[in-house]
Amino acid sequence: MQLQSNKRLDPMPLITLKQVKRCYRLGQTSITALSDINLQIEQGEFVAVWGPSGSGKSTLCNLIGTLDNPTFGQIIVNGRNIAEMTDAEQSDHRNHSVGFIFQRFNLISVLTALENVCLPLTLRGESKTVSSQKARSILADVGLETEADRRPDKLSGGQQQRVAIARALVTEPPLIVADEPTANLDSKTAEQIVALMRRFNHSLGTTFIFSTHDEHLLKEVGRRIRLHDGRIIEDIVTTANEKQVC
Ligand SMILES: Nc1ncnc2c1ncn2[C@@H]1O[C@H](COP(=O)(O)OP(=O)(O)OP(=O)(O)O)[C@@H](O)[C@H]1O
Ligand SMILES: [Mg+2]
Repeated sequence: MQLQSNKRLDPMPLITLKQVKRCYRLGQTSITALSDINLQIEQGEFVAVWGPSGSGKSTLCNLIGTLDNPTFGQIIVNGRNIAEMTDAEQSDHRNHSVGFIFQRFNLISVLTALENVCLPLTLRGESKTVSSQKARSILADVGLETEADRRPDKLSGGQQQRVAIARALVTEPPLIVADEPTANLDSKTAEQIVALMRRFNHSLGTTFIFSTHDEHLLKEVGRRIRLHDGRIIEDIVTTANEKQVC
């Protein structure tokens, strides 16, 4: 398939991937999960990475979130190649500049929704009062103010993912990476979760990158990056993004 692309607007990149390749060793063999990846993600974008199983979506999300390093090529954040950062600098970048949302929600089962959302703030040394205020406010934003004292097992899948979105947003990171955040949800709830992320993208200017294998979820995205066999075969800015910029 032909690589498709069109021009984007903001010249200020949040993250740049140059000639990125990621291989995994499996015994004697090497599996190339991604190759020839050239990308620039700008502030405020709402990006879907989509493609079939095994196309490299998780590998790309992990690299963009700097949870992983490329085998070859460069990943540049804030003008710096992450390969040249110390481990402490890399984890500082991850802790302060990236929020993560996962397919299985990854909430802590013994904590309430409120406590789960408070946790990233508490870990940063924020006071209990301030953490609690911020967490309550963002739980209200995701429509869960009345569920704040419930534990994850008393919430539906969609509600748990809303808590996870609140937890990712509570520290106000510029970038949120979500690897298949809707894979465990029914199609209606999945659409609601994408719409919720899009709402925060508009209201807070947070950059979102989420992966999906579901083409139905691409309606509202501002940019779609399609992967096939570890390569980008399409990188398209849609009218949804132009509407947002105007
Ligand atoms: N830790 C690993 N060790 C070996 N091979 C891996 C590893 N992780 C991923 N791969 C391989 O890399 C390729 C891309 O995998 P990746 O998980 O990124 O795809 P994906 O698009 O996220 O798939 P899915 O939709 O099933 O989650 C696949 O061939 C996969 O088998
Ligand atoms: Mg995956």
